[in-house]
Amino acid sequence: MSPRIVLLPGDGIGPEIIGPAVKVMNAVGAELDYEERLFGGASIDAYGTALTDETLDACRQADAVLLAAVGGPRWDTTDPDKPRPEQGLLGLRKGLGLFANLRPVKPIPALYDSSPLKRELIDRTNLLVVRELTGGIYFGEKTRTRDRASDDCVYTRSEIERIAQVAFRTARSRVTSVDKANVLETSRLWREVVREVHGREFPNIELEHLLVDNAAMKLIAAPRHFEVILTENMFGDILSDEAAMLTGSIGMLPSASLGDGQPGLFEPVHGSAPDIAGTGQANPLAMILSAAMMLRHGLGMETQAAAVESAVERALAAGLRTRDLGGTANTKQATQAVLKHL
Ligand code: NAD
Ligand code: IPM
Ligand code: MN
Repeated sequence: MSPRIVLLPGDGIGPEIIGPAVKVMNAVGAELDYEERLFGGASIDAYGTALTDETLDACRQADAVLLAAVGGPRWDTTDPDKPRPEQGLLGLRKGLGLFANLRPVKPIPALYDSSPLKRELIDRTNLLVVRELTGGIYFGEKTRTRDRASDDCVYTRSEIERIAQVAFRTARSRVTSVDKANVLETSRLWREVVREVHGREFPNIELEHLLVDNAAMKLIAAPRHFEVILTENMFGDILSDEAAMLTGSIGMLPSASLGDGQPGLFEPVHGSAPDIAGTGQANPLAMILSAAMMLRHGLGMETQAAAVESAVERALAAGLRTRDLGGTANTKQATQAVLKHL
């Protein structure tokens, strides 16, 4: 039986970029059974909630979940009682226990000049952001009155231990743990636990601690310094969009969200890009590269994953540039270019 994949196109450019990813997986010979579900804003419109129990169950029973993006101005509201598309995404990550979000940042030489940063600075950068995904300020208790609001930031020892283990296991030589231990109590626990896991289980890997403000600067000043960046939920969110610019565009960055045994969730780092939705101009490469991560991490299809990644690189080397990369190719042309090099 073929592996079962739940496809969640979501909103905005989501439905425009998920088809290309499926086309590429078909072309590389990955035999998969797809089941498509409404998610995010589209699900709010149909069912009144961003993630239905049925969709969560379908995801639980799948072998992997491929998501494009959710959200958009249509559902933007500051009313805490109204449903939001992003609640679906957080509910899915939590519901599947996906505590580890892996965001590889490996600029492709053909795109060095698409980045606003100097080529000699970007050259040979190859880093991985390991972002904790189911804890911290995203999931703490929230309160709201007319004049006061709060978001609780909580981390437990075991939450920090398991994400630190993922980071050390993935690293070859160095882990940079990023926190705000000069101010936040959660960061002080984070630093203590990361240090313990390091000393106990991974003494041969170099561990350094950086404060998040300094890390944000160093990511631009000396990106080659980093190998694995281990950090909490919100810092990882912000630093990965920043790191995306090393690759030329947020439209290039894929990610994998993994837990203990549950099906993984594979999604580009970018959002639903409402400003270009419907124009056919979206860059599908982050989505296609997320599908490659699904083939590798979710389904054990390393050969097919590598073939997809290589086709993307060769299409770019041959001159493919979507608008976000300073070119004129639209979504369709970008997809054709990748298929041609597969
Ligand atoms: P965004 O990532 O959607 O867009 C930021 C900028 O990058 C925009 O100018 C957009 O046009 C551009 N961009 C993003 N992806 C692109 C692509 N593939 N090709 C070309 N250009 C691309 O971030 P935003 O505008 O802050 O958020 C829009 C909505 O997306 C919000 O509702 C937000 O909550 C949601 N969002 C969802 C996810 C997700 O589903 N994983 C991630 C981030 C943001
Ligand atoms: C991301 C997004 C999400 C996050 C939002 C849409 C909830 O920005 O996947 O990076 O903050 O995790
Ligand atoms: Mn983000």
